[in-house]
Amino acid sequence: MYAKMQIFIIGCGKIGSAFAKVLAPHFNVLLYNRSFEKAQALAKETQSEAVSLQTGLSEANFAILAFKPKDLKEFSSNLPSLEDPSTIFLSTLAGTSLSTLETLLPSYTHIRVMPNLPLSVGAGALGLTTTMELTTQQRENIEKLFAPCGKSFWLSEAKLEAFTPLAGSGPAFIATIIESMAEAGIAMGLSAEESLEITLQTMKGVVNVVQEVGKHPAELRWDTCSPGGVSIAGVRRMEAKGLRSAVIESFLATYEALLKDK
Ligand SMILES: NC(=O)c1ccc[n+]([C@@H]2O[C@H](COP(=O)([O-])OP(=O)(O)OC[C@H]3O[C@@H](n4cnc5c(N)ncnc54)[C@H](OP(=O)(O)O)[C@@H]3O)[C@@H](O)[C@H]2O)c1
Repeated sequence: MYAKMQIFIIGCGKIGSAFAKVLAPHFNVLLYNRSFEKAQALAKETQSEAVSLQTGLSEANFAILAFKPKDLKEFSSNLPSLEDPSTIFLSTLAGTSLSTLETLLPSYTHIRVMPNLPLSVGAGALGLTTTMELTTQQRENIEKLFAPCGKSFWLSEAKLEAFTPLAGSGPAFIATIIESMAEAGIAMGLSAEESLEITLQTMKGVVNVVQEVGKHPAELRWDTCSPGGVSIAGVRRMEAKGLRSAVIESFLATYEALLKDK
């Protein structure tokens, strides 16, 4: 068991910064970024430490790879050679398979983690996959590492590719729906602030009923629609405009783009 885990974050963009802010109060966080000033600024903000690749990889128990998949080749060719490295790599690179990681970074053990940006408030959904045999202790340490970020889901690698559009890209779709709903409120005469607040409270309420009470979404919809009432008129228009199909096809377009890039 690690006394206080050392977590090395490689890439200090949107996801790397979100991880640093959430993990720094709990673990020793080390940071590295290609443009090093970015790592230094984030280290100052999170009271962690900006270090070289060599230092980070020599000291850390886990290294979170948080750069874009297109930068993997450059990263692998600049990797310092360490004798018998024990750092476990946790790759956030969307669509980059374990076999690609094992080919390009052969000296390391790999786990893929698919996060989403709500991890920045501890409400992330994180998909995890690996082909390595994890000891109970290793699995517990990984779960402990990600606990401050939200909820983790261990999945097969094939299912992780489906998790990526749903959870990784999902915030973009849900944010669009929230924005559209708030704009509907503005169109009906509410202020932008009122409309956004009412939209968010409604969203939260629906999530709570589905998650905590266990009510199926279809049942909640029917409960809201009284016979010949106003809500069913809106549901009918929603169906006519193809909202359900638009939502499904948007996620599948992301899934297809992900598989095409592999
Ligand atoms: N954003 C999301 O919502 C989201 C969700 C799920 C998964 N992901 C995954 O998270 C990863 C990062 O995405 P992001 O949105 O955080 O990207 P980003 O904001 O563009 O940040 C990427 C960072 O990586 C740095 N970098 C590039 N090559 C590097 C190298 N060789 N060594 C060290 N640092 C390097 C970049 O530094 P420079 O400033 O020098 O370019 C940049 O700061 C991606 O693989 C993506 O698939 C993102």
